[in-house]
Amino acid sequence: MAHQVKGVIAKSKGDPVAIETIEVPNPGPGEVLIDVKACGVCHTDLHYREGAINDEFPFLLGHEAAGLVEEVGEGVTGLAAGDFVILNWRAVCGHCRSCRRGRPWNCFSTHNATQKMKLDGKELSPALGIGAFAEKTLVAAGQATKVNPEAKPEVAGLIGCGVMAGLGAAMNTGQVSRGDSVAVFGCGGVGDAAIEGSRLAGAHTIIAVDIDPTKLEWAKEFGATHTIDSSKVDPVEAIREITDGNGVDVAIEAIGLPITYEQAFYSRDLAGTVVLVGVPNPEMKIELPMIEIFGRGGTLKSSWYGDCLPSRDFPMLIDLYLQGRLELDRFVSETIGLDEVEEAFHKMERGEVLRSVVIL
Ligand SMILES: NC(=O)c1ccc[n+]([C@@H]2O[C@H](COP(=O)([O-])OP(=O)(O)OC[C@H]3O[C@@H](n4cnc5c(N)ncnc54)[C@H](O)[C@@H]3O)[C@@H](O)[C@H]2O)c1
Ligand SMILES: [Zn+2]
Ligand SMILES: [Zn+2]
Repeated sequence: MAHQVKGVIAKSKGDPVAIETIEVPNPGPGEVLIDVKACGVCHTDLHYREGAINDEFPFLLGHEAAGLVEEVGEGVTGLAAGDFVILNWRAVCGHCRSCRRGRPWNCFSTHNATQKMKLDGKELSPALGIGAFAEKTLVAAGQATKVNPEAKPEVAGLIGCGVMAGLGAAMNTGQVSRGDSVAVFGCGGVGDAAIEGSRLAGAHTIIAVDIDPTKLEWAKEFGATHTIDSSKVDPVEAIREITDGNGVDVAIEAIGLPITYEQAFYSRDLAGTVVLVGVPNPEMKIELPMIEIFGRGGTLKSSWYGDCLPSRDFPMLIDLYLQGRLELDRFVSETIGLDEVEEAFHKMERGEVLRSVVIL
Protein backbone atom coordinates (compact mmCIF):
# COMPACT_ATOMS: atom_id res chain seq x y z
CA MET A 1 0.00 0.00 0.00
CA ALA A 2 1.35 3.38 -0.98
CA HIS A 3 1.36 6.20 1.55
CA GLN A 4 -0.71 9.35 0.97
CA VAL A 5 1.26 12.33 2.31
CA LYS A 6 1.53 16.08 1.82
CA GLY A 7 4.28 17.45 -0.42
CA VAL A 8 5.32 20.77 -2.01
CA ILE A 9 4.85 20.63 -5.77
CA ALA A 10 5.99 22.91 -8.59
CA LYS A 11 3.40 22.15 -11.29
CA SER A 12 4.55 24.46 -14.05
CA LYS A 13 7.26 26.95 -14.87
CA GLY A 14 7.32 30.01 -12.63
CA ASP A 15 3.99 29.26 -10.91
CA PRO A 16 3.86 29.47 -7.12
CA VAL A 17 4.37 26.11 -5.44
CA ALA A 18 1.42 24.36 -3.79
CA ILE A 19 0.86 21.63 -1.23
CA GLU A 20 -0.67 18.50 -2.72
CA THR A 21 -1.40 15.01 -1.51
CA ILE A 22 1.07 12.70 -3.16
CA GLU A 23 1.52 8.96 -3.29
CA VAL A 24 4.75 7.46 -1.91
CA PRO A 25 5.29 3.72 -2.56
CA ASN A 26 6.55 1.29 0.05
CA PRO A 27 10.28 0.69 -0.40
CA GLY A 28 11.22 -1.91 -3.01
CA PRO A 29 14.61 -3.63 -3.33
CA GLY A 30 17.44 -1.21 -2.52
CA GLU A 31 15.06 1.56 -1.46
CA VAL A 32 14.36 3.29 1.83
CA LEU A 33 11.25 5.12 3.02
CA ILE A 34 12.14 8.24 5.00
CA ASP A 35 10.04 10.02 7.59
CA VAL A 36 11.30 13.55 6.81
CA LYS A 37 11.94 15.72 9.89
CA ALA A 38 13.46 18.87 8.36
CA CYS A 39 14.33 20.20 4.91
CA GLY A 40 16.15 23.45 4.05
CA VAL A 41 15.05 25.76 1.23
CA CYS A 42 17.95 25.87 -1.26
CA HIS A 43 18.37 28.16 -4.25
CA THR A 44 18.31 25.06 -6.46
CA ASP A 45 14.64 24.40 -5.49
CA LEU A 46 13.82 27.82 -6.86
CA HIS A 47 15.86 27.06 -10.01
CA TYR A 48 13.64 23.96 -10.50
CA ARG A 49 10.38 25.84 -10.16
CA GLU A 50 11.66 28.49 -12.60
CA GLY A 51 12.30 25.75 -15.17
CA ALA A 52 16.03 26.53 -15.11
CA ILE A 53 17.07 22.91 -14.49
CA ASN A 54 14.79 21.01 -16.88
CA ASP A 55 11.16 20.81 -18.02
CA GLU A 56 10.20 17.62 -16.24
CA PHE A 57 7.28 19.12 -14.29
CA PRO A 58 5.66 18.39 -11.89
CA PHE A 59 8.56 18.54 -9.42
CA LEU A 60 8.44 17.42 -5.83
CA LEU A 61 10.78 20.04 -4.36
CA GLY A 62 13.16 19.87 -1.38
CA HIS A 63 16.50 18.07 -1.12
CA GLU A 64 18.42 19.42 1.91
CA ALA A 65 16.95 17.07 4.47
CA ALA A 66 17.29 14.92 7.53
CA GLY A 67 14.84 12.36 8.87
CA LEU A 68 14.28 8.89 10.26
CA VAL A 69 14.34 5.67 8.31
CA GLU A 70 10.78 4.35 8.44
CA GLU A 71 11.18 1.16 6.43
CA VAL A 72 13.91 -0.47 4.37
CA GLY A 73 13.36 -2.50 1.21
CA GLU A 74 14.70 -5.92 0.34
CA GLY A 75 18.48 -6.27 0.30
CA VAL A 76 19.21 -3.01 2.14
CA THR A 77 22.05 -3.42 4.60
CA GLY A 78 23.53 -0.90 7.02
CA LEU A 79 20.24 0.93 7.61
CA ALA A 80 17.30 0.02 9.83
CA ALA A 81 13.99 1.57 10.88
CA GLY A 82 14.59 4.40 13.36
CA ASP A 83 18.07 5.39 12.10
CA PHE A 84 18.67 9.16 11.91
CA VAL A 85 19.92 10.00 8.41
CA ILE A 86 20.89 12.92 6.20
CA LEU A 87 19.78 12.58 2.59
CA ASN A 88 22.29 13.07 -0.20
CA TRP A 89 22.26 13.41 -3.96
CA ARG A 90 25.45 11.44 -4.50
CA ALA A 91 24.69 7.78 -3.86
CA VAL A 92 27.96 6.47 -5.24
CA CYS A 93 27.48 3.58 -7.71
CA GLY A 94 30.90 1.94 -7.32
CA HIS A 95 30.94 0.79 -10.95
CA CYS A 96 31.07 3.80 -13.29
CA ARG A 97 34.31 4.83 -14.99
CA SER A 98 34.99 7.46 -12.32
CA CYS A 99 34.30 5.12 -9.37
CA ARG A 100 36.46 2.42 -10.97
CA ARG A 101 39.37 4.86 -11.15
CA GLY A 102 39.10 5.62 -7.43
CA ARG A 103 37.24 8.93 -7.75
CA PRO A 104 33.83 8.18 -6.25
CA TRP A 105 33.23 11.87 -5.38
CA ASN A 106 32.80 12.40 -9.14
CA CYS A 107 30.51 9.33 -9.55
CA PHE A 108 28.83 9.67 -12.97
CA SER A 109 25.98 7.26 -12.26
CA THR A 110 24.58 7.92 -8.80
CA HIS A 111 21.52 6.02 -7.55
CA ASN A 112 17.95 7.24 -6.98
CA ALA A 113 14.84 5.28 -5.98
CA THR A 114 13.58 3.06 -8.82
CA GLN A 115 9.86 3.41 -8.04
CA LYS A 116 8.19 6.75 -8.71
CA MET A 117 6.26 8.94 -6.32
CA LYS A 118 3.05 10.19 -7.95
CA LEU A 119 0.54 13.02 -7.99
CA ASP A 120 -2.92 12.10 -9.34
CA GLY A 121 -1.37 9.09 -11.05
CA LYS A 122 1.32 11.21 -12.76
CA GLU A 123 4.98 10.53 -12.02
CA LEU A 124 6.72 13.24 -10.01
CA SER A 125 10.30 14.40 -10.62
CA PRO A 126 11.91 14.69 -7.18
CA ALA A 127 14.38 17.61 -6.90
CA LEU A 128 17.93 16.24 -7.19
CA GLY A 129 16.42 12.75 -6.98
CA ILE A 130 15.27 13.38 -3.41
CA GLY A 131 12.00 15.35 -3.04
CA ALA A 132 11.93 16.06 0.68
CA PHE A 133 9.41 18.89 1.13
CA ALA A 134 7.10 16.00 1.98
CA GLU A 135 6.07 14.13 5.08
CA LYS A 136 7.65 10.99 3.64
CA THR A 137 9.92 10.39 0.69
CA LEU A 138 11.40 7.41 -1.11
CA VAL A 139 15.13 7.28 -1.88
CA ALA A 140 17.82 4.77 -2.82
CA ALA A 141 19.54 3.32 0.23
CA GLY A 142 22.81 5.03 -0.73
CA GLN A 143 21.06 8.40 -0.54
CA ALA A 144 20.56 8.07 3.22
CA THR A 145 23.63 8.54 5.40
CA LYS A 146 23.42 7.60 9.07
CA VAL A 147 24.72 10.24 11.49
CA ASN A 148 24.70 10.87 15.26
CA PRO A 149 21.03 11.40 16.24
CA GLU A 150 21.98 14.01 18.84
CA ALA A 151 22.16 16.63 16.07
CA LYS A 152 18.95 18.60 15.50
CA PRO A 153 17.29 17.71 12.17
CA GLU A 154 17.01 21.35 11.00
CA VAL A 155 20.77 21.69 11.34
CA ALA A 156 21.78 18.23 10.15
CA GLY A 157 19.75 18.51 6.95
CA LEU A 158 21.80 21.50 5.78
CA ILE A 159 24.82 19.22 5.42
CA GLY A 160 22.84 17.47 2.67
CA CYS A 161 23.34 20.28 0.15
CA GLY A 162 24.37 23.94 0.48
CA VAL A 163 26.59 23.72 3.54
CA MET A 164 28.36 20.63 2.19
CA ALA A 165 28.80 22.32 -1.20
CA GLY A 166 30.46 25.35 0.43
CA LEU A 167 32.58 23.50 2.98
CA GLY A 168 33.71 21.07 0.29
CA ALA A 169 34.42 23.82 -2.26
CA ALA A 170 37.06 25.09 0.17
CA MET A 171 38.31 21.90 1.81
CA ASN A 172 38.01 19.32 -1.00
CA THR A 173 37.96 21.15 -4.35
CA GLY A 174 40.07 24.18 -3.42
CA GLN A 175 42.32 22.14 -1.10
CA VAL A 176 42.61 25.14 1.20
CA SER A 177 45.23 24.41 3.81
CA ARG A 178 47.11 25.96 6.71
CA GLY A 179 48.54 29.37 5.86
CA ASP A 180 46.47 29.94 2.70
CA SER A 181 44.67 33.16 1.83
CA VAL A 182 41.15 32.79 0.43
CA ALA A 183 38.53 35.08 -1.12
CA VAL A 184 34.88 34.02 -1.24
CA PHE A 185 32.54 35.77 -3.69
CA GLY A 186 28.91 35.63 -2.56
CA CYS A 187 28.07 35.18 1.11
CA GLY A 188 24.83 33.22 1.02
CA GLY A 189 24.59 29.80 2.65
CA VAL A 190 27.08 28.28 0.23
CA GLY A 191 29.61 31.14 0.44
CA ASP A 192 29.45 31.31 4.23
CA ALA A 193 30.05 27.57 4.39
CA ALA A 194 33.09 28.08 2.13
CA ILE A 195 34.30 30.72 4.60
CA GLU A 196 33.79 28.33 7.47
CA GLY A 197 35.52 25.51 5.56
CA SER A 198 38.50 27.80 4.92
CA ARG A 199 38.70 28.64 8.62
CA LEU A 200 38.55 24.96 9.59
CA ALA A 201 41.27 24.16 7.06
CA GLY A 202 43.60 26.77 8.57
CA ALA A 203 43.45 29.72 6.15
CA HIS A 204 44.96 32.82 7.78
CA THR A 205 43.24 35.41 5.58
CA ILE A 206 39.60 34.90 4.53
CA ILE A 207 38.10 37.73 2.48
CA ALA A 208 34.32 37.86 2.07
CA VAL A 209 32.95 39.68 -0.99
CA ASP A 210 29.26 40.57 -1.42
CA ILE A 211 27.07 43.51 -2.47
CA ASP A 212 24.85 43.23 0.60
CA PRO A 213 26.25 44.75 3.84
CA THR A 214 24.12 42.46 6.03
CA LYS A 215 25.57 39.40 4.32
CA LEU A 216 29.06 40.75 4.97
CA GLU A 217 28.27 41.14 8.68
CA TRP A 218 27.06 37.55 8.82
CA ALA A 219 30.16 36.40 6.91
CA LYS A 220 32.36 37.70 9.76
CA GLU A 221 30.49 35.46 12.17
CA PHE A 222 31.54 32.44 10.10
CA GLY A 223 35.20 33.43 10.09
CA ALA A 224 35.81 36.12 7.46
CA THR A 225 38.85 38.16 8.49
CA HIS A 226 38.12 40.92 5.95
CA THR A 227 35.00 42.02 4.06
CA ILE A 228 34.60 43.85 0.76
CA ASP A 229 31.41 45.49 -0.48
CA SER A 230 31.90 45.03 -4.23
CA SER A 231 29.02 47.41 -5.02
CA LYS A 232 31.25 50.19 -3.65
CA VAL A 233 34.85 49.20 -4.43
CA ASP A 234 36.66 47.13 -7.04
CA PRO A 235 37.08 43.79 -5.26
CA VAL A 236 40.16 42.79 -7.28
CA GLU A 237 42.02 45.94 -6.18
CA ALA A 238 40.81 45.59 -2.60
CA ILE A 239 41.92 41.94 -2.42
CA ARG A 240 45.37 42.86 -3.76
CA GLU A 241 45.70 45.54 -1.08
CA ILE A 242 44.87 43.07 1.68
CA THR A 243 47.35 40.49 0.30
CA ASP A 244 50.48 42.66 -0.12
CA GLY A 245 49.69 43.23 -3.78
CA ASN A 246 49.68 39.51 -4.60
CA GLY A 247 46.13 38.17 -4.59
CA VAL A 248 44.76 35.12 -2.81
CA ASP A 249 45.83 31.48 -3.04
CA VAL A 250 42.24 30.30 -3.53
CA ALA A 251 39.30 32.32 -4.93
CA ILE A 252 35.86 30.72 -4.55
CA GLU A 253 32.90 31.91 -6.63
CA ALA A 254 29.63 31.06 -4.84
CA ILE A 255 27.09 33.01 -6.90
CA GLY A 256 27.22 31.75 -10.51
CA LEU A 257 27.72 35.01 -12.45
CA PRO A 258 30.23 35.87 -15.20
CA ILE A 259 31.23 39.14 -13.51
CA THR A 260 32.09 37.52 -10.20
CA TYR A 261 33.86 34.63 -11.91
CA GLU A 262 36.11 37.16 -13.64
CA GLN A 263 36.71 38.95 -10.35
CA ALA A 264 37.67 35.63 -8.77
CA PHE A 265 39.96 34.86 -11.71
CA TYR A 266 41.84 38.15 -11.40
CA SER A 267 41.98 38.24 -7.60
CA ARG A 268 44.20 35.14 -7.47
CA ASP A 269 47.92 35.07 -6.79
CA LEU A 270 50.16 33.44 -9.42
CA ALA A 271 49.59 29.69 -9.54
CA GLY A 272 46.47 30.09 -7.41
CA THR A 273 43.20 28.21 -7.68
CA VAL A 274 39.74 29.37 -8.77
CA VAL A 275 36.77 27.27 -7.63
CA LEU A 276 33.35 27.75 -9.22
CA VAL A 277 30.63 26.42 -6.89
CA GLY A 278 27.89 28.90 -7.93
CA VAL A 279 25.67 27.54 -10.70
CA PRO A 280 25.46 29.67 -13.87
CA ASN A 281 22.46 29.57 -16.20
CA PRO A 282 22.90 28.05 -19.68
CA GLU A 283 23.05 31.45 -21.43
CA MET A 284 25.99 32.87 -19.47
CA LYS A 285 29.36 33.32 -21.15
CA ILE A 286 32.76 34.58 -20.05
CA GLU A 287 35.55 35.97 -22.15
CA LEU A 288 39.13 35.92 -20.84
CA PRO A 289 42.39 36.74 -22.59
CA MET A 290 44.01 33.34 -23.14
CA ILE A 291 47.40 34.73 -22.20
CA GLU A 292 46.02 35.53 -18.74
CA ILE A 293 44.89 31.92 -18.32
CA PHE A 294 48.37 30.74 -19.28
CA GLY A 295 50.39 33.49 -17.66
CA ARG A 296 48.75 33.26 -14.25
CA GLY A 297 49.12 29.50 -14.12
CA GLY A 298 47.38 27.57 -11.38
CA THR A 299 44.08 25.79 -11.55
CA LEU A 300 40.51 26.54 -12.62
CA LYS A 301 38.09 24.07 -11.04
CA SER A 302 34.36 23.48 -10.62
CA SER A 303 32.94 22.02 -7.45
CA TRP A 304 30.01 19.63 -7.77
CA TYR A 305 28.50 19.17 -4.32
CA GLY A 306 31.81 20.13 -2.74
CA ASP A 307 33.43 16.97 -4.13
CA CYS A 308 31.95 15.29 -1.08
CA LEU A 309 31.63 11.63 -0.22
CA PRO A 310 28.55 11.53 2.00
CA SER A 311 29.54 8.35 3.82
CA ARG A 312 32.94 9.85 4.68
CA ASP A 313 31.99 13.49 5.24
CA PHE A 314 28.49 13.68 6.77
CA PRO A 315 29.17 11.72 10.00
CA MET A 316 32.49 13.55 10.46
CA LEU A 317 30.92 17.01 10.01
CA ILE A 318 28.07 16.18 12.41
CA ASP A 319 30.66 15.05 14.98
CA LEU A 320 32.58 18.33 14.55
CA TYR A 321 29.29 20.20 15.00
CA LEU A 322 28.43 18.30 18.18
CA GLN A 323 31.92 19.06 19.53
CA GLY A 324 31.32 22.78 18.92
CA ARG A 325 34.01 23.00 16.23
CA LEU A 326 31.67 23.58 13.27
CA GLU A 327 29.10 26.38 13.39
CA LEU A 328 25.86 25.17 11.83
CA ASP A 329 23.10 26.77 13.93
CA ARG A 330 23.87 30.17 12.48
CA PHE A 331 22.83 29.02 8.98
CA VAL A 332 19.25 28.49 10.17
CA SER A 333 17.61 31.91 9.81
CA GLU A 334 14.11 30.59 10.53
CA THR A 335 12.11 27.40 10.80
CA ILE A 336 8.85 27.25 8.83
CA GLY A 337 5.96 24.95 7.94
CA LEU A 338 5.47 23.08 4.67
CA ASP A 339 2.96 25.75 3.60
CA GLU A 340 5.55 28.55 3.79
CA VAL A 341 8.00 27.43 1.08
CA GLU A 342 6.75 29.92 -1.52
CA GLU A 343 7.22 32.80 0.92
CA ALA A 344 10.67 31.44 1.81
CA PHE A 345 11.63 31.70 -1.90
CA HIS A 346 10.74 35.40 -1.80
CA LYS A 347 12.75 35.93 1.39
CA MET A 348 15.70 34.26 -0.32
CA GLU A 349 15.31 36.53 -3.37
CA ARG A 350 15.20 39.57 -1.11
CA GLY A 351 18.36 38.38 0.66
CA GLU A 352 16.69 38.22 4.08
CA VAL A 353 17.74 34.69 5.01
CA LEU A 354 20.64 32.28 4.80
CA ARG A 355 18.36 29.28 5.17
CA SER A 356 14.67 28.86 5.90
CA VAL A 357 14.17 25.30 7.10
CA VAL A 358 10.89 23.42 6.90
CA ILE A 359 10.14 21.41 10.04
CA LEU A 360 7.84 18.41 9.74
N1 LIG B 1 27.99 23.41 -6.89
C1 LIG B 1 27.07 22.86 -6.11
O1 LIG B 1 27.07 21.64 -5.91
C2 LIG B 1 26.02 23.72 -5.48
C3 LIG B 1 25.22 23.24 -4.43
C4 LIG B 1 24.26 24.09 -3.85
C5 LIG B 1 24.11 25.38 -4.34
N2 LIG B 1 24.90 25.81 -5.38
C6 LIG B 1 24.81 27.16 -5.96
O2 LIG B 1 25.56 28.07 -5.16
C7 LIG B 1 25.07 29.40 -5.40
C8 LIG B 1 24.84 30.12 -4.08
O3 LIG B 1 23.80 29.50 -3.36
P1 LIG B 1 23.23 30.19 -2.03
O4 LIG B 1 22.18 29.27 -1.50
O5 LIG B 1 24.36 30.59 -1.14
O6 LIG B 1 22.55 31.48 -2.68
P2 LIG B 1 22.16 32.90 -2.04
O7 LIG B 1 21.23 33.52 -3.01
O8 LIG B 1 21.73 32.69 -0.63
O9 LIG B 1 23.55 33.71 -1.99
C9 LIG B 1 24.11 34.44 -3.05
C10 LIG B 1 24.88 35.63 -2.47
O10 LIG B 1 25.52 36.30 -3.56
C11 LIG B 1 25.41 37.70 -3.37
N3 LIG B 1 25.54 38.36 -4.68
C12 LIG B 1 24.64 38.41 -5.68
N4 LIG B 1 25.14 39.08 -6.74
C13 LIG B 1 26.39 39.47 -6.40
C14 LIG B 1 27.43 40.20 -7.06
N5 LIG B 1 27.27 40.67 -8.30
N6 LIG B 1 28.60 40.39 -6.40
C15 LIG B 1 28.78 39.93 -5.13
N7 LIG B 1 27.83 39.24 -4.45
C16 LIG B 1 26.65 39.00 -5.08
C17 LIG B 1 24.06 37.88 -2.72
O11 LIG B 1 23.97 39.12 -2.03
C18 LIG B 1 24.01 36.67 -1.77
O12 LIG B 1 24.54 36.98 -0.50
C19 LIG B 1 23.81 29.23 -6.25
O13 LIG B 1 24.15 29.44 -7.61
C20 LIG B 1 23.44 27.78 -6.01
O14 LIG B 1 22.65 27.25 -7.07
C21 LIG B 1 25.85 25.01 -5.93
ZN1 LIG C 1 30.03 5.76 -9.90
ZN1 LIG D 1 20.66 22.51 -2.79
